[in-house]
Amino acid sequence: MNYTVVLPAAGSGKRMKADKNKLLLELFGKPIFLYTLEVFQKDPNCDAIWLAVKEQERGLIENYVKRYNLTKVQGYATGGTERQDSVRACLEAIPPCGVVLVHDAARPFIDKEVIVNLVEKAHTSGAAIAAVPVKDTIKKAENGIISETVDRDQLWMIQTPQAFRYSLILEAAQKAHNDGFMGTDEAMLVERLHYPVAIVESTYENIKMTTPDDLIYGRAILESRLQEEQK
Ligand code: CTP
Ligand code: MG
Repeated sequence: MNYTVVLPAAGSGKRMKADKNKLLLELFGKPIFLYTLEVFQKDPNCDAIWLAVKEQERGLIENYVKRYNLTKVQGYATGGTERQDSVRACLEAIPPCGVVLVHDAARPFIDKEVIVNLVEKAHTSGAAIAAVPVKDTIKKAENGIISETVDRDQLWMIQTPQAFRYSLILEAAQKAHNDGFMGTDEAMLVERLHYPVAIVESTYENIKMTTPDDLIYGRAILESRLQEEQK
């Protein structure tokens, strides 16, 4: 089943402490965001890729897109102050389609099968997001003292991609904007419309490159994948 992907790439990467957009940092000589783009370029079900970028980085990113022959990139939107603004700008720019996938450009290790499952679920039920079960014991604390141990069986760590019917996510994004509501992911914007959002189990490798230690994990993941390919 086909889809259009929207990739927010207009952040500044403050927590990476690299003095530039972390997406431009290289892993084995290639900027992080290109690994993400290549996943969708190679996926036969992906019809189109749209990017939210900072105006001042657009030229640089466009050059990479040309150099790496990423022919599915169909357009750019100008990113906003918050990630949610960048995603909305992209959703308002894309031509209407069946299913839209919203995926952080900073998550280059997304699994192909997870994408298939998300798109299928969004086609049938409207909204589905990638997540992994929580591995650690989770406790709540007040003033440094444990108040509760939370039942882990019902807890998920939420990732992207998040897949939605186009009309649903556009409505949810615009309503959040009009209401001045800021969520931490797209699903939250849909949840507040009382629309059910399904979970699709993803992989622990689908990390978001956020802090400097993620670069170490990122290199390790790429190395292990390369070794697998050579077997
Ligand atoms: N993003 C965006 N527009 C923003 C903020 C973030 O398009 N105003 C994008 C980032 O480029 C990234 C994704 O949203 O691909 C996830 O955001 P995050 O990991 O928080 O990236 P940054 O905001 O760049 O990093 P930080 O929060 O550490 O500054
Ligand atoms: Mg951020």
